[in-house]
Amino acid sequence: MQVLNLPVEIFDHTWSLKIQGKSIGFVPTMGALHEGHFHLIKRAREENEIVVVSIFVNPLQFNRDEDFNNYPRSVDQDLVHLRKLGVDVAYVPSERAMYPELPQIKLDFGLMEQVMEGEFRPGHFSGVGVVVAKLFNHCNPTRAYFGLKDLQQYLLVKRLVSDLSLPLDIVGVPIVREESGLAMSSRNQRLSQEGKRIARTIYQGLILARQLWEDKSSSDETNQTVNAFYREQKGLSMEYVQIVSPNTLRPLENNKLEPAVICVAGYVEGVRLIDNLYLRQD
Ligand code: PAJ
Repeated sequence: MQVLNLPVEIFDHTWSLKIQGKSIGFVPTMGALHEGHFHLIKRAREENEIVVVSIFVNPLQFNRDEDFNNYPRSVDQDLVHLRKLGVDVAYVPSERAMYPELPQIKLDFGLMEQVMEGEFRPGHFSGVGVVVAKLFNHCNPTRAYFGLKDLQQYLLVKRLVSDLSLPLDIVGVPIVREESGLAMSSRNQRLSQEGKRIARTIYQGLILARQLWEDKSSSDETNQTVNAFYREQKGLSMEYVQIVSPNTLRPLENNKLEPAVICVAGYVEGVRLIDNLYLRQD
């Protein structure tokens, strides 16, 4: 496996592979890799001749300095995992290489970013959009892989690609969970045993929502019952609970025969966690 640090190095390398007609699967990450990331990488390995994984903790997408500073970093260990997974190239740029100058551009995804993560993390998706667009330009991917755990991010990146006619496909990969149901996340490392126990109830709330939905409860009823369940959990403080269309992210008022997904965010031990569950698939 090659480890490259400079945009020009990764560009030249992947460009020469691309003009030889090789397919390049790309998995952008912020490191502290876990089983959730591994699934994306395995999928990329199955579907492409070359696999590139980037590790870069993007300051532009954090709206709290504390969150950026506390974000877990374990590059050496990450590289060991990537070698085992048969990755061809790890791209690990420095902040200076990524941002020789602070980008002045701001991306606005309209209504899709005014809800959920966008509402509670102002500027977050602009930062994600900028870094993802730069990484695509550096790595020349045929396909890029994103987890459905960050459903809003996945949808916005798809929109970025279609709005700007970027020449690649975006592939969404289902959420990987621990046995307890807790969605895997780099942030879980910051939880104590007790914190993990509390965090599990996030998924239990989602399962409860699905039962209610299947029993034809309305959006309001489901929301109220799930919120009441979350309020009972000591140590858990939810930021939002939203039932939305997985295509537009608009809130669903009624329980009709259309796709629906419940998206939640909350804090345990000061760690921000997000999750979602389809209440009805397409
Ligand atoms: P990061 O949080 O490291 O996640 C990298 C990718 O792994 C994302 O597409 C995310 O959705 C996916 N992922 C994380 N946990 C997952 C799980 N439990 N199941 C399935 N997929 C999971 O998301 C980012 O980094 C950044 O915003 C990035 C896209 C790299 C831009 O900086």
